[in-house]
Amino acid sequence: MWNAIFGSATPVNDAANEVTFTINGKTYKAGNGLPEDTSLNTFIRDVASLKGTKFMCAEGGCGACIVSATVEHPVSKERETKAVNSCLVPVFSCHGWEITTIEGIGNRMKGYHQTQAQLAKFNGTQCGYCSPGMVMNMYNLLEGGHAPTMAQIENSFGGNLCRCTGYRPILDAFKALASDATPELKASCVDIEEVYKICKKTGERCSGKCSIPADLPKSVALSTGGANWRKVNSLAELRDALVNVGETPYKLVAGNTAEGVYKSEGIKEYIDVKGVPELRSIDKKPGAITLGGNVTLTEAMNFFASVSENEFKYVNQLATHIDWIANVPVRNAGTLAGNLSIKHAHHEFPSDIFTTFETVGAKLNIMDAVGDVKTVTLADYLVLDMNRKFILSIELSKKGENHRFRSFKITPRAQNAHAYVNAGFCFEFEDTKAWKVVGQPRIVFGGIAPSFTHASNIESYLTGKNLLDSAAISGAFAELGRQLNPDRVLPDATAEYRKNLAQALFYKFLLGLDPSKVSDSQKSGGTNLERPLSTGKQDFDTDKSLYPLNEPIPKIEALAQCSGEAEFVNDIPSVPGEVHAAFVLSTQATGTIANIDPTEALAMPGVVGFFKHTDMVHYNTFTPPDFGYADQEEIFCSGNVKYAGQALGLVVAETRELALKAADKVKVEYKNSTITKPVISMSEVLQNAGSRIHPDDKEEENEDETASHRTKAAKIIKGDFEIPKQYHLTMENQSCLVLPKEDDSFDVFSTTQWIDLGQAVVARCLDIKASKVNMSVRRLGGGYGAKITRPSQLAGACAVASQKLNRAVRMVMPMTANMELAGKRFGLRNEYEVGVDEKGKIEYLQAKFFQDSGCNLNDSPLRSTREHFNNCYDSTKFKVESQQIRTDTASNTWCRAPGTTEGVAFIEEIMERIAGETKLDPLAVRLANLHNNDNPIAEMIAELKRISDFDARRAKVNEFNAANRWKKRGMSLVPMQYPFDFWGNHPAIVSIYQSDGSVAISHGGIEMGQGMNTKVAQVAAHILGVPLDSISVKPSNTLTSANAIVTGGSLGSEAVSYATMQCCKELLKRLQPIKDKMPNASWLELIKNAHGKQIDLVATYMFTPKDNVKRYNIWGAAIAEVEVDILTGEKQILRVDLLEDAGQSMSPMVDIGQIEGAFVMGMGYWLTEELIHDPTTGRLLNTRTWNYKVPGAKDIPADFRVTFRKNAKNPDGVLQSKATGEPPLNLSIVVLFAVSDALRSARKDAAGDDKYHQLKPPATAEHIFLAGLADPKDFKL
Ligand SMILES: Cc1cc2nc3c(=O)[nH]c(=O)nc-3n(C[C@H](O)[C@H](O)[C@H](O)COP(=O)(O)OP(=O)(O)OC[C@H]3O[C@@H](n4cnc5c(N)ncnc54)[C@H](O)[C@@H]3O)c2cc1C
Ligand code: FES
Ligand code: FES
Repeated sequence: MWNAIFGSATPVNDAANEVTFTINGKTYKAGNGLPEDTSLNTFIRDVASLKGTKFMCAEGGCGACIVSATVEHPVSKERETKAVNSCLVPVFSCHGWEITTIEGIGNRMKGYHQTQAQLAKFNGTQCGYCSPGMVMNMYNLLEGGHAPTMAQIENSFGGNLCRCTGYRPILDAFKALASDATPELKASCVDIEEVYKICKKTGERCSGKCSIPADLPKSVALSTGGANWRKVNSLAELRDALVNVGETPYKLVAGNTAEGVYKSEGIKEYIDVKGVPELRSIDKKPGAITLGGNVTLTEAMNFFASVSENEFKYVNQLATHIDWIANVPVRNAGTLAGNLSIKHAHHEFPSDIFTTFETVGAKLNIMDAVGDVKTVTLADYLVLDMNRKFILSIELSKKGENHRFRSFKITPRAQNAHAYVNAGFCFEFEDTKAWKVVGQPRIVFGGIAPSFTHASNIESYLTGKNLLDSAAISGAFAELGRQLNPDRVLPDATAEYRKNLAQALFYKFLLGLDPSKVSDSQKSGGTNLERPLSTGKQDFDTDKSLYPLNEPIPKIEALAQCSGEAEFVNDIPSVPGEVHAAFVLSTQATGTIANIDPTEALAMPGVVGFFKHTDMVHYNTFTPPDFGYADQEEIFCSGNVKYAGQALGLVVAETRELALKAADKVKVEYKNSTITKPVISMSEVLQNAGSRIHPDDKEEENEDETASHRTKAAKIIKGDFEIPKQYHLTMENQSCLVLPKEDDSFDVFSTTQWIDLGQAVVARCLDIKASKVNMSVRRLGGGYGAKITRPSQLAGACAVASQKLNRAVRMVMPMTANMELAGKRFGLRNEYEVGVDEKGKIEYLQAKFFQDSGCNLNDSPLRSTREHFNNCYDSTKFKVESQQIRTDTASNTWCRAPGTTEGVAFIEEIMERIAGETKLDPLAVRLANLHNNDNPIAEMIAELKRISDFDARRAKVNEFNAANRWKKRGMSLVPMQYPFDFWGNHPAIVSIYQSDGSVAISHGGIEMGQGMNTKVAQVAAHILGVPLDSISVKPSNTLTSANAIVTGGSLGSEAVSYATMQCCKELLKRLQPIKDKMPNASWLELIKNAHGKQIDLVATYMFTPKDNVKRYNIWGAAIAEVEVDILTGEKQILRVDLLEDAGQSMSPMVDIGQIEGAFVMGMGYWLTEELIHDPTTGRLLNTRTWNYKVPGAKDIPADFRVTFRKNAKNPDGVLQSKATGEPPLNLSIVVLFAVSDALRSARKDAAGDDKYHQLKPPATAEHIFLAGLADPKDFKL
């Protein structure tokens, strides 16, 4: 489509009035006609048709889009290679760039690059959607002969999200390439000669790129039709351009990364300033450092880190601080002036550059269009009219040896997050003994309020005082407390936290100033949490006699994933006439649609249609009753709005970007919305009861029984526990492609875990037979339940548009819309009464569960919640009542380990509470309550304690806590019983080809990272006795796997493996008579002979629970040890030991990956992921990577050890294995309890007793800080 609109992507030589660049050695040009905001990502994918580079967030927050760019530096004139986020780079700013994409560094034709092969070998891929970005980030770290250390590598993946793997294998794969890799890691490196081919042109290793044309004009001036682009190369050209813009809305373009924070609109003049040498130079003279305004953050960081002169030693701290900003690719492109300009335009932005540079008294040289330069402080700059002016340079002056500067940044996760509060403290002292303050110190806070910069009251107050004098300290905190009045703008943290945190940071500064003046117990407050290099250990047995079954192998598609060759829905090449769709979403949670007016959208050139509920004449639901759905959720709202984010209509346009823009132009009028305030939380419903509460199930206990139980119990505890929702954050957003075909049929490619449902919905929406809908799924970029029911909404909508337009329709949701449209993991609340004996054993337990179902009752996993509430405990005295609650939010849906996570969480919180209230050891309480049925859990707990050295470490934790007031450690152990059942139909088909004996398999499961294709191939190779590489697993589709049930609940891999095994057995049975006659025949001879005898070499089988499998239990236990900074709320997971009963794993590396990935996803749930709605409109407010924080690479356990239970063959499952995909998520709550354990000690220090305190999940830094009771009155040396 893009080619048709904007001309051919054929390499060209001439670049007049166009920008010219190369991609993987081919020259491309971009010019007139291409929209001015076209990203490099769009160009790479849609014009150059290189689909290996992905996208997800489109704002620099996920790393899926990383490519390598080699660009001439305007000062050194050297060509430098760096990682950039192609989603943020405008294609018009790529003039003269050599771009290398994942295809350019290695592929199946020319051989794989070492980074690709390494990631594959270490099993660093699951769904593989993040893998190209991971590889490209690593590729860039190694480029130019760099030899990063393990620490540098581990520090460089903050901008690459992975939701599947838990990062551990990714970090191991890449750390093995480090200059200081351990011998063990080095030995496991891929031998590059084996995997990397030689360039035919040069005879060297192919680098995937050839150089840019030498005669390229340096300057560019072009018009896109919508706007003008100019690339300037000198200050004179820049000034000239500023004169020429007149009153037209313009923008200077440096890294363009600010678009990832705030989107700009209505720009008509773009001035690319990256090539102006004065803006990019760094100059150090005695007494002054001058940095050009558009020095990148990476350049500034590297420079500051290299400065060693005493008078500028303080800039080393600036280097440390810049390392906390954003992530590697953003820092490579983003510049100092760009960052400050965000703060200039949006005073609320907690700019780290502003805070730190203002603290050290930096000055800005501002140049105007006529060349006059004015020098201003950063504080003055904030109120300066910057129209047609620019930041020429930034000046830093020297500081005497009695200066002290320290800065802080406290964030929701370890990396790639903006600050709750950042702070800088810069003091000059008369001497460093009495610490008498000379002159006015500089105390700057960000994240307090748009107008707040300096804590000027205490700056004045402290002048002339001895800073470490206790009277001065208490006076300073009193002043600070008065001056700090943070605002509250959702979804940001509370004012209470930010105010107290700011004070705590000043205290941290004081404690760190002169540790010799600080008492031992307080010293821990003066340092930041220090994370060691992470390590991992995986311990499992294998049986070589079964290989390739039970063999630890990488995933069969791993190399394809790491090279970007693995195809996802949106990678399917476009077809002629294809159009793109975007939903129009409701901006209000309640009310009735009065009118939808698409006129303005339809008037935009390239917009081809608008569809709404009146176009759904045949069918308008994606939750059909015959698929078991009580509530029929509408594809398009027909009148009554149920939640903010509901789909109201669909805009269809020639490009995706246009469709998204046009969707914003559709005008919607609502009736009655102001009358009804949306109900977005369960507590609002419970306060008023009423029709929103739906009884689900009730186990009665009569009153006499309860009374008798109450009398017997030594202690009765009443409590409640509320757990939040969680966004799935699949790296591949929901996507769909519908193609009209001959004979009124449609090909549908959907990101669905349930092809049967998708097929039915499309057929009904189009009023055609199901047999006319060809649904096919190659793989998903993560599913976790998000793609069970919801994708059918996209499929139905796109299908109707496709039928009406008779054109192929593609829809790829942006992350924000994806998050607003679809429901999340169900939030739940448990209200309970429990009676226990003196040992903490439960005498009776009455629990009432309330589930936040969203706007309807579909997809409820409450049954699982109830079942898993029993966990491994004696539940004979448990009585549970459950209710569903309707709120005005999106219909919640399955999310990895749905219901089971919540059930285990509820009972485990009760165990913690019993221990807290009775002052018993939490583990002793758990052991006292274990059930006595035949089970290995007590033995597994003992084994886990042994291998993790639990008792000795526990004693050390207690010692640590006794010695330290401001850092606390905590430990916890959680056991798990996971009853596992089989359900549904799971077909498979196995075909053997007579031409060469190779085998193809298709099955009804959906490969979404859980490795089912690898397991299926291992099973087939094992049963048939053929090499693994002769097996090929094909996409799943509705022809070969008609009526397949959803892939979910961890059972898909086992079920389709079973079906495959039966197919293979059937084929062997058919081959047996020939084998009997030809006992020494090779496989191929056997197959040829069978074919000659017209034996059917295709077998099908459908697994059902009637097969030879039984319900079984999965057992596990996990121990976590954490450290918490009580003065900031930050935490660090020091170590996790996890023992899981995986039966005899079909594929141990795949299962280890599932366990680690599930656990880390659970860590996000319990520790960082928080969803916040606007109370007035009901809209979800944090729908971006910017403000919804899943764990990153430096949030995972610093030491992560996974062990499979030994000798644990499962007689009841498939090939003696057990499922692994979801159960470990149930264990992840151990991290919440470990944090809570750490806080217990802090609360005891603060309040004098260790009364039970429930830590509310998610235990964000804010919640931890507030629960830790850090109070300025306790801030003493
Ligand atoms: C994922 C992500 C995470 C981030 N995290 C943080 C964080 O934790 N802390 C933090 O402080 N920042 C953070 N940032 C912001 C980041 O530092 C800025 O986006 C970056 O520095 C902007 O620089 P740029 O060159 O890309 O600016 P551009 O996007 O190119 O330009 C931004 C603005 O600056 C103006 N401008 C550019 N150059 C000049 C000049 N010389 N004189 C005057 N105006 C100019 C432009 O006109 C434009 O309006 C983050 C950004 C992203 C995308
Ligand atoms: S798509 Fe570019 S960083 Fe997420
Ligand atoms: S493998 Fe990383 S997101 Fe799926």
